[in-house]
Amino acid sequence: MPRAGTGLTRESIRIDSHLDGSGSRSLAEDVLDGLTRPFKELPPKHFYDSHGAELFDRICELPEYYQTRAEREILEQRAEEIAELTGASELVELGSGTAAKTRVLLDALSSAGTLERYIPLDVTESMVRSSARALVEEYPGLSVHGVIGDFERHLEHIPPALGPRVVAFLGGTIGNFPPGSRRRMLRGIARLLGAEDHLLLGTDLVKDPRVLEAAYNDAEGVTAEFNRNVLRVINRELDADFDPADFEHVAIFDEHHEWIEMRLRARRGLVATIAALEMDVRFDAGEELRTEISAKFTRERLQGDLAAAGLELVRWLTDAEQRFALTLARPSS
Ligand code: SAH
Ligand code: TRP
Repeated sequence: MPRAGTGLTRESIRIDSHLDGSGSRSLAEDVLDGLTRPFKELPPKHFYDSHGAELFDRICELPEYYQTRAEREILEQRAEEIAELTGASELVELGSGTAAKTRVLLDALSSAGTLERYIPLDVTESMVRSSARALVEEYPGLSVHGVIGDFERHLEHIPPALGPRVVAFLGGTIGNFPPGSRRRMLRGIARLLGAEDHLLLGTDLVKDPRVLEAAYNDAEGVTAEFNRNVLRVINRELDADFDPADFEHVAIFDEHHEWIEMRLRARRGLVATIAALEMDVRFDAGEELRTEISAKFTRERLQGDLAAAGLELVRWLTDAEQRFALTLARPSS
């Protein structure tokens, strides 16, 4: 139940958690399933423990990783227009992280005088809690209803809309789903939208493979550390003995699928023990574990995905160099 407001900022925060313990259960299932396949694979959500979240923040500042700056540029130029078109009183954000760019939108909605509630959803508990605390301070009168959960499983725990709503899915995170799950995810999002509501979706665009590969393989090696962090998470949560230094970071653009693939490649043949699962995992020298894809879009591809989810494009907004797109969409009429 929402707590009664007393006018104190503390009282305008509500946080629900849907993970309690199921976080490591889902890691165990994903590891068991993904590391026993002929082509080893893990879903990307396990990168983001608190160390992973810090590394991701550093990635966003890297000279090679243009996406965050490009998306911010679009938001800064178009947030006012988005606020006007949507008249939103609430902003739902999936995979909200530190909500850094979100403030540009909140500023615009707040200036337009419509903003009432912010609903961040993320798997990383510490980020939902700290961003909620910061935002109620920064935006007097704003109520924050944080949801700690998995956006593939817990969208139904997003509270019903109290007014016109925008669901934001920024940072190109939709690109981290393989095509089938991507459409499933978009259908799930579409179910959160009433006739008056909008989706604001950030997607990276197809471009020169050298630019793309550099963005996922920076000179400083921060992305490599981020990629290897998943092994540290498995060591800690499942009592395993991977040596992250045994794995090389690989990022290549697959031109056929138009996605970046992130992999960890074993530098030598090895056997790791995962005590919590009572299993050994063998890697041959050079064998790869796929840890993430990051799909790159064109306007046509995105419109197809939206249509399949019952959504139609309202605005296609790009940065000056056409590197990144923010799409405003709504339920098809
Ligand atoms: N929106 C931010 C962060 C993007 S990074 C930005 O644009 O910079 C991806 C975010 O999604 C991280 O905060 C991560 O914790 C979260 N995330 C990843 N997989 C998730 C899942 N399955 N469910 C919920 N959140 C997830
Ligand atoms: N959504 C981000 C993207 O696809 C996530 C990301 C950026 C990422 N750099 C990464 C994930 C490196 C794994 C490794 O761009």
